[in-house]
Amino acid sequence: MKVFDSPAAWRGFRAGLEAPGFVPTMGALHEGHLSLVRRSQDENPWTVVSVFVNPTQFDEAADLAAYPRQVEDDLDRLREAGVDAVFLPSAEDLYPDDYRYRVSENQLSHRLCGAHRPGHFDGVLTVVLKLLNLVRPARAYFGEKDYQQLQLIRGMAEALFLDVDIVGCPIVREADGLARSSRNRRLAERDRRLAPELYRVIRNSGSAEDAGAELAGLGFEVDYVEDIDARRFAAVRLGEVRLIDNVPLEAGHS
Ligand code: PAJ
Repeated sequence: MKVFDSPAAWRGFRAGLEAPGFVPTMGALHEGHLSLVRRSQDENPWTVVSVFVNPTQFDEAADLAAYPRQVEDDLDRLREAGVDAVFLPSAEDLYPDDYRYRVSENQLSHRLCGAHRPGHFDGVLTVVLKLLNLVRPARAYFGEKDYQQLQLIRGMAEALFLDVDIVGCPIVREADGLARSSRNRRLAERDRRLAPELYRVIRNSGSAEDAGAELAGLGFEVDYVEDIDARRFAAVRLGEVRLIDNVPLEAGHS
């Protein structure tokens, strides 16, 4: 497995090779990330993973500081998974302009998570565009766990005529239904036992409003529960930890 920590070294390696599959991540890798890696390996001649905790998508300094960083563990997992190359850029390298230039979207990015995390999706779209330009993949893989993010990245690829297929991958869950997330490990023991209720409630409630009320009653601090285009989206907080999830709505939900 080749590891690159500068865009210049990466570009030198990439030149002349065929287009890879690409899985962008912020590290602290778990089964959710690895499911994207395996899908890429199935569909591409080779696969590159980036690990970069992107400062511009954090709206709270405390959240950025608390984000788990464990590069050596991540590299071990990626090596074990048979990944061909890893790109580990620094913030200085990815933001030579100091974030003067950015991608912003004007509708969907202001809803749901965007309404609660100002600037978050500008940071996501900007870093993803930079990474796609550097990596030049044939296909890039994103999880439905972050469904709004996936939709926005798809929209950006279409709007800016990016020459890449954006592939959405299903949510990987724990046995108790909690969506895998690097934030789960920060849950206090009691909150970890409560957390799977998020998935159960948004699946089973008749309306978004009922789901929100039920979650609040259980002790979640509810950022939002909203039904949009036959999908229910939710974000909640347990202590300092923010959890998101989404489910497709079946006929019968209002
Ligand atoms: P990160 O949270 O590390 O997630 C990287 C990718 O893994 C995303 O596409 C995310 O949707 C996917 N993923 C995470 N948990 C998953 C799960 N339980 N099941 C399926 N897929 C899962 O999302 C980001 O990083 C960043 O915003 C990034 C796109 C890398 C830009 O900085």
